[in-house]
Amino acid sequence: MTDLAIQALGVQKSYRGDGVVTPVLRGLDLCVPAGKFVAIMGPSGCGKSTLLHILGLMMKPDAGQVTLVGKAIHDLSAGQQTMIRRKVVGFVFQRFNLLSSISALANVKLAARLRGVDTRTTPAEMLELVGLTGQARRRPGQLSIGEQQRVAIARAMIGRPPLLLADEPTGNLDSDNSHRILDLIRRLHDQFGQTTVMITHSQSAADVADVVHQMKDGLLAK
Ligand SMILES: Nc1ncnc2c1ncn2[C@@H]1O[C@H](COP(=O)(O)OP(=O)(O)OP(=O)(O)O)[C@@H](O)[C@H]1O
Ligand SMILES: [Mg+2]
Repeated sequence: MTDLAIQALGVQKSYRGDGVVTPVLRGLDLCVPAGKFVAIMGPSGCGKSTLLHILGLMMKPDAGQVTLVGKAIHDLSAGQQTMIRRKVVGFVFQRFNLLSSISALANVKLAARLRGVDTRTTPAEMLELVGLTGQARRRPGQLSIGEQQRVAIARAMIGRPPLLLADEPTGNLDSDNSHRILDLIRRLHDQFGQTTVMITHSQSAADVADVVHQMKDGLLAK
């Protein structure tokens, strides 16, 4: 049997507000074998970020089962979710979400501390791997946009979590920077061997993945 890093079965999620219920995920299934690089594409508003937030333990599904690296996560307490998120998931956002008042290195160190022991790759080594040794002491505002996303990738990968989730990681970048970021994500994927799920609107970005899923109306088609 294949070792699955992600097994999501019958996942449902609706948003509720002002008496309106918006169904977004409608019984979605997704299985990702360990070590695969998966891209998810689909129209704006179809539920891609909602799915990634559920996989990243930032949101709970209304129904369905989600197992990450062998652990059932759909009905954990908030505290358990936080613990598992820190250990298991590295998350890269479209808008980087770095702490602006501390240096690039401090951003990565903070993630290392939250994640617990990092014996294999130190924060400084991680910044070296993304090509930012010379910029380690700068704050995010003193870095280019592409460099900020490289810091965010270093932060996501510190401690080598088994799962990297990236929500439109090149959505705010020009085409040169997009290529560099995609090359970097693919290189780290190959080097560290984690499972990667990347959402993108760009076919050329999706082309770096092993498998591309199309999402439509809250469900996935291969
Ligand atoms: N907090 C929320 N409250 C209510 N509705 C929401 C909320 N977040 C998202 N939605 C709605 O849920 C649907 C799915 O949103 P989601 O962000 O998952 O889409 P997406 O596929 O990531 O879109 P995009 O490609 O534009 O990022 C959209 O119709 C959105 O308006
Ligand atoms: Mg989105």
